[in-house]
This record gives sequence, C-alpha cells and structure tokens, in this order.
Amino acid sequence: MKRLAILFGVITALTFTANAQTKPAAGAKKPAAKPVAAKSKSAAPDPKDVEEGKVLISQSDCLACHKVDMKVVGPAYNDVAKKYPYSAANVSLLSTKIINGGAGNWGEVAMSPHPALAANDAKKMVAYILSLKAK
Ligand code: HEC
Repeated sequence: MKRLAILFGVITALTFTANAQTKPAAGAKKPAAKPVAAKSKSAAPDPKDVEEGKVLISQSDCLACHKVDMKVVGPAYNDVAKKYPYSAANVSLLSTKIINGGAGNWGEVAMSPHPALAANDAKKMVAYILSLKAK
C-alpha cells in the first residue's frame, strides 16, 4: 500500500511538470507594422509643379474621393504627405499608382485607375500632395 502511494505521487508530479512545460508562452504578440519614416532632409518639390499639380487635381475626379485634411473614400492628402517623404522614388511610386489604381496601402478600398492621365501630370499632382506636409 505504501509503495502504491509513492508511485501515485510520482505520477502526479510527472503530470504536473509536463503540463507546466507545454503551456504556451504568454504575451508573444507581433509588433505592429510601423509607417515609413519621414526623412527630415528630403528635397523639396518644385513650386511650379506644386501649383500646376493643384490645378490638375481640381480638374480631375480626385476630389470626389480625397480631401486635404479629412479621409473620404481615399486617405487625406495630409496623411499621404506624412507617410511619404518627397523623393524621386516616392513621386514615381505614387504617380504610377494614380494611373494604374489599386488598394492595399490604406485599406481594402481601391483607387480607380486614371489611364488617360499623362505620367508628367500625375507627377505634378504628387508634387502638390507631398508638399502639404509642411502646412
Ligand atoms: C474612386 C475614388 C478615388 C478617386 C477618384 C481617386 N482616388 Fe486616390 N485613392 C483612393 C483610395 C481608396 C486610395 C487608397 C488606396 C490604397 O489603400 O492603397 C487612394 C490613394 C491615393 C494615394 C496614395 C497611394 C498610396 O499607395 O499610398 C494618392 C497619392 C492618391 N490616391 C491620389 C489621387 C489623385 C491625384 C487622384 C485624381 C487623379 C485620385 N487619387 C483619385 C480613392 C480614389
């Protein structure tokens, strides 16, 4: 009877240890994705492009989905300017996106494509949008 009690105790102890080891580690959360950091020393857009870009945007359908300081269907232009520092690479990236359309950077809703837009005009629009950060 004494042996049986010892055996029982050993089994209980073993089970307890096994349980403790198979417990999943708590708080193993993935860190949230960080937005693209804005470089403080980025080139400024050409003021002439900014002026023309603003006019081009007012003549296109952009303002149906975008406002400068408020999210509508698309992100606020202020927020776009905060996310992307002004650089040749970002101007090319965003002007291509305006022409081709697409989703995924701000949510599931897609921007409509603008295939009739000249690449140079799309770049001026981006110059205007990315100039908004300072204001
Ligand atoms: C039908 C609505 C709609 C119209 C019209 C529209 N947009 Fe957008 N735009 C969106 C949406 C939605 C997004 C977010 C897409 C995403 O999540 O990647 C967006 C994103 C953008 C972005 C950021 C892209 C990125 O990848 O971060 C820029 C810049 C932009 N739009 C400029 C323009 C300009 C300039 C025009 C006019 C020529 C225009 N949009 C017209 C809906 C629209």
